[in-house]
Amino acid sequence: MALNQLDKEWTKQMLAKSILYFLLHFIIFVSIGAVALLWDQFDNLAEHMGKNGSSYLYALFCVFMLVVITYLYYLFEDRTVLESGKSITLVFLLLDISFLASWLIGKYINIFARPVAFVALMAFVLIGRRSGIFLNIINALLIFVADTFAGGISVQNAYYSSLIISFSAGMFAIFFCNRARTRLHIVGVGIFIVIPVDFTIALLEISTFVEGSTTAVHALSSIFMHMGFGLFGGVMSAILFLALLPFFEVIFNCLTVFRLRELTSSDAKVLKKLKEEAPGTYNHSTVVAQLAEACAAAIGEDMDYARAAAMYHDVGKLHNPEHFTENQGDYNLHDELTPELSADIIRSHARDGYALIKSNHLPDFLADIALQHHGTMPIRYFYAKALKMTDGELNIEDFSYMGPKPQTKLAAIIMIADASEAAVRAANAKKPEDVERVIRGIIEERMDLEQFSECDITMVELTKIRQALVNTLSGVYHHRVKYPTIKYKHTSDGSTKGENV
Ligand SMILES: [Fe+2]
Ligand SMILES: [Fe+2]
Repeated sequence: MALNQLDKEWTKQMLAKSILYFLLHFIIFVSIGAVALLWDQFDNLAEHMGKNGSSYLYALFCVFMLVVITYLYYLFEDRTVLESGKSITLVFLLLDISFLASWLIGKYINIFARPVAFVALMAFVLIGRRSGIFLNIINALLIFVADTFAGGISVQNAYYSSLIISFSAGMFAIFFCNRARTRLHIVGVGIFIVIPVDFTIALLEISTFVEGSTTAVHALSSIFMHMGFGLFGGVMSAILFLALLPFFEVIFNCLTVFRLRELTSSDAKVLKKLKEEAPGTYNHSTVVAQLAEACAAAIGEDMDYARAAAMYHDVGKLHNPEHFTENQGDYNLHDELTPELSADIIRSHARDGYALIKSNHLPDFLADIALQHHGTMPIRYFYAKALKMTDGELNIEDFSYMGPKPQTKLAAIIMIADASEAAVRAANAKKPEDVERVIRGIIEERMDLEQFSECDITMVELTKIRQALVNTLSGVYHHRVKYPTIKYKHTSDGSTKGENV
């Protein structure tokens, strides 16, 4: 995309603001770097700069180039990062912390013990996979520049390996982090980070040994000692990540995969309450979560977000759990109420859910989807009941949800998955063709009533969602073979015999 093709919303003012933020953070980064690299030279600064001034100038130019490239990457690949000063600060704070930690550990412990995968892990979890990969490259180059051109390394030969060690450790971290399900799994990722680090260290040390500049015993002890530091660096990356992630989640209001999984665990405050006070709704939500995950996977939406949205979509029913079918026993409270009052109680659960999620300071997207998951659909049962009871005109809006309609693909997924679960269960549909008929009807009804007119979901995606729902729901409520009933009898010879009942 060329610069002149930037969106209309991306004004010159926003462009100028993001450039200013980048310049400010460039100055902060360079200041941190200057203090770190010149720490031991303050006494004879003039003499040191006289000798090495051109190297530092070259390093400064390299850092400036890398910052410009980072800006251009976000401008053309992921402009959402440039839209808020907070996100730009997040990117630079990761690079600042990595640089400082690398300098401190390199100076006081060992150059091979630096937390080389810290930036990759944090950026991957907080901003996304692509940012993780890109910032890992930038971080590896920044450390390489400091090591090579600004005298960051005093250990002989180590700067040869600094680029490959930082780059490959970060990439390993991102690829293995993908499978990490909890924060603690990340410590395990630390072990994988060690593989490229220790491999490179061992080869580097062996090459020194081959040159014959040292004895075999000395070379071996040096290899193992430096590999030990490499192990420390891998584990240090994971520990720094675990220690700092919660602060970043709070300060930058980031919704990480770990936070989402914690929010959907049955121990989460609101869900625990739902499980205890509205068990029917809780069970319904867990099935909707399973369906929403399958739909999200089918159209390339985030499965963790879909699962969380499904688990919280009906929490508004906590206000009047016994008024909803799934929590009722034999007695139906609506038998005593007018259809208008019943419809009002039922439709208020969308609004109540929104308020409950907001008051518990849960993520905004959960509140929005709770409010939108029925769109402006009529509550058919009570509208039909009212039609039977009156000869006069009825206003359908008095029996309809108040919206808004789904604003995102995820909200549309929850709307369809929610209605499909309830309808397939109510229709007792077990064969895939019956399930398909019910779901097709659900989607067509919502299209007729223009429920998807405010989100950018396509026909192709609706078809994929239908197929995913048919596959999953056919599995959830699959046709079970009826077990024969057998009556067992003990015979006089001590054996047991059975007969069909
Ligand atoms: Fe609902
Ligand atoms: Fe629901």
